[in-house]
Amino acid sequence: MVDESTLRLSFLAASVFVAFLFASWYRRDPLLDAIPTVGFSDPILSYFSALRFILDGPLRLKYGYEKTGRGLFKTATLRRWMVLASSPELIEDVRKASDDVLSITASAIEFLQADYTLDLLDMNTDYHTDVIRAKLTRNIAATFKDVRDELIRSLDASIPVLGDDWVKVPVMETMQRVVSATTNRVFVGPPLCRNQEYLTLNLNYAVNVMKFAAIIGMFPRPLKPIVARMLSNLPSQIRQEMEFIRPMVEERFARMEEFGEDWDDKPVRRSTSLDVNVVINAEALQNDMLMWLMSESKGVERSLEGLARRMLVVNFAAIHSTSTTFTNVLYHLLSNPEYVEPLRQDVETAVAEEGWTKAGLDKMHKIDSFLRETQRMDSLDNLTMIRLALRPFTFSNGVTVPAGTLIAAPTGAINGDGEIFPNPEEFDGFRFTKPRGHDGNTVAGRQALYKTAEQLIFGYGRHACPGRFFAVNEVKALLAHVVVTYDVKFEEGKQAPSSFSIGSMRVPGKANAMFRKRQR
Ligand code: HEM
Ligand SMILES: *[C@@H]1O[C@H](CO)[C@@H](O)[C@H](O)[C@H]1NC(C)=O
Repeated sequence: MVDESTLRLSFLAASVFVAFLFASWYRRDPLLDAIPTVGFSDPILSYFSALRFILDGPLRLKYGYEKTGRGLFKTATLRRWMVLASSPELIEDVRKASDDVLSITASAIEFLQADYTLDLLDMNTDYHTDVIRAKLTRNIAATFKDVRDELIRSLDASIPVLGDDWVKVPVMETMQRVVSATTNRVFVGPPLCRNQEYLTLNLNYAVNVMKFAAIIGMFPRPLKPIVARMLSNLPSQIRQEMEFIRPMVEERFARMEEFGEDWDDKPVRRSTSLDVNVVINAEALQNDMLMWLMSESKGVERSLEGLARRMLVVNFAAIHSTSTTFTNVLYHLLSNPEYVEPLRQDVETAVAEEGWTKAGLDKMHKIDSFLRETQRMDSLDNLTMIRLALRPFTFSNGVTVPAGTLIAAPTGAINGDGEIFPNPEEFDGFRFTKPRGHDGNTVAGRQALYKTAEQLIFGYGRHACPGRFFAVNEVKALLAHVVVTYDVKFEEGKQAPSSFSIGSMRVPGKANAMFRKRQR
């Protein structure tokens, strides 16, 4: 999501405000002295550790994780000290903390500089998270046909295989387009989910938010609104989103007015007074993200502008995460062609039993494992469960961190831990189909470690990614379709590109893939 020019820009801005940051580093809480540090602990020198973290985050985290034997350690980031909780017990402490002590929202608002970028009408609610958790997840089986229809359409359109010839496509861009269309089939439905301008707008918005957050974040608070107004084109993107969804929103609000609030939830058939057209329309309209947001929104959020901003945020959370994950999946498939045949069999067996349905997907254990192994080796971020301490927080081992500290789990290091995953550097696509402990590894507490590692990919606890079931379903449906439909390979002489990191985030490199119609 972040490219190298953003990286350079951030550095530029960083150096401009060195003096400002130095000043703030002098304020350090003595409570933190009890926690081992990766890099310098000294207030001024720690600034260099913070810069180093931007360049080399995943390695710094791994170092701390190993050095402390899965303990508690801290490292400087540009704005704050961050304390890493590595063991299952410490991570459990973080999970159990209440939102007014360790806040995911506060850390996200700061990271995204959300007051100046996302700028939701009501920053105090994240009702979209509940909508995703309840409505989207509950509708995975019901919307499966649509998801599959749309992913086939968009793959067909993006990968024009003709006869037996190979076609070359850029993996990342192609999968962004496919995932955008497929996901938006369930967010807004056709025809908007096929409108390239609409899809591009949503993709660009996410990139812009990250870019402007990096820049605005470097400025002291009084300057932020000014910088935001001068630099940001986000308001114009919000206006464009409003225009795209305006006709649907206006029509649906009118219907809700006419037929009552709850028509969207309950099958409309109960009413005999409605004419048939309205019944069909109401049913067609009821199962999408926009509709769910319209039903659940309140106050200022229940407006065209409020909904447009939320739709952008939901797209932000959904699209890049899913398309990057699927890009990584494809890179592993192209690098390890010996998996193609067993994956085809896995899909064909399940489809023979259940058809192309959610139930069928649930039976594809090799497809499932392949995805999980990809996420183990190539997560999008080597940290999850990032929280900001709003009050002092005491871990179960007695160590207290002051308010204002970031807390997170070093998920990437955990997933690269050889005592949890033997030969962690090796891509073992079917690792997760084998019974646990198959390798005879009896390290004490390994089960707990393993369980924690498994859960951390999407975060863990109350704030675990609410879209994870939908995302997993979509990525598995994509992979299953790709393996049975195409032959795939890298260009002659090419291999998987290496990813790069900025802070703890990881971005896959770019590469082309060759596709042709499956030959046998
Ligand atoms: C493979 C794709 C995805 C990955 C790897 C992913 C990963 C994550 C992670 C690691 C978190 C943070 C959890 C924590 O810190 O404890 C998160 C949060 C979130 N994700 Fe996802 N996600 C994906 C897809 C989606 C999709 C498809 C949606 C929406 C439909 C979505 C919506 C969200 C939201 C709204 C949050 C914030 C939750 C909160 O504040 O409580 N994600 N995601
Ligand atoms: C970063 O995370 C990935 C897994 O998600 C892991 O494979 C990699 O080893 C991690 N990097 C380091 C240096 O720990």
